[in-house]
Amino acid sequence: MLIFAPPESASNRQFYTSLADTMRIDILTLLPELLESPLNYSILKRAKEKGILELYLHNIRDYAHNKHKQADDYAFGGGAGMVMMVEPIDKCITSLTSERHYDEILYLTPDGESFTQRMANHLATLGNIMMLCGHYKGVDQRVRDHYITREVSIGDYVLSGGEIAAAVIVDCTGRLIPGVLSDETSALMDSFQDNLLAPPVYTRPAVYKGWKVPEVLLSGHQLQIDEWRHQQSLDRTRLLRPDLLEEGEEEEGKG
Ligand code: ADE
Repeated sequence: MLIFAPPESASNRQFYTSLADTMRIDILTLLPELLESPLNYSILKRAKEKGILELYLHNIRDYAHNKHKQADDYAFGGGAGMVMMVEPIDKCITSLTSERHYDEILYLTPDGESFTQRMANHLATLGNIMMLCGHYKGVDQRVRDHYITREVSIGDYVLSGGEIAAAVIVDCTGRLIPGVLSDETSALMDSFQDNLLAPPVYTRPAVYKGWKVPEVLLSGHQLQIDEWRHQQSLDRTRLLRPDLLEEGEEEEGKG
């Protein structure tokens, strides 16, 4: 269930604490509307309906107690662009952390560590995660210094805000939570698990316009099929992403 959470009241506080055994993600944003749609379809929708995943969006502006609900201001020292103010974010984070422990408080920013499948695997094992979406020039450094446990980037490019990055991370992580995918092995077979790209897949018809599905896939020999898929994964990775193989070897070396 996706809700827009106002500053916590006694009534919804009770609701929050009554649920257990689910992963909870709280997203702090200036633009909750931007996230509503991408987080409400397909696998994530099913995860929420099954009660495995709870997602809450918090509009940072609801925590700005000045006249115009202002949540950003000019940068000290000058320069173009606005900076997200410390107080509304502090109020929002404090309100949430007074209710429960958060395993990670992520800040989405282009200068963060790169988001990878490995990080998604880690996040999927956690109970409560908070994500703060930056905008404009970013957030007041004091928020980063005092609250953020991990700064994350989804790639070496600059988005207009952290919302789309948060949606990417929630999507990627949400599908890995045990019980979300009906066939658990399908997540294990994804590209990037084990530092390998996924093998090619085919479905009916076996021949289309004379284009044939590889014979082995029709053979019924599961061992041969598994070997073929593994070999395809290796060949594709060697061709398209040799850096992944090197990374895998380094990780093995570390034990
Ligand atoms: N905010 C702006 N650009 C971003 C990026 N590449 N990753 C995460 N958050 C961002």
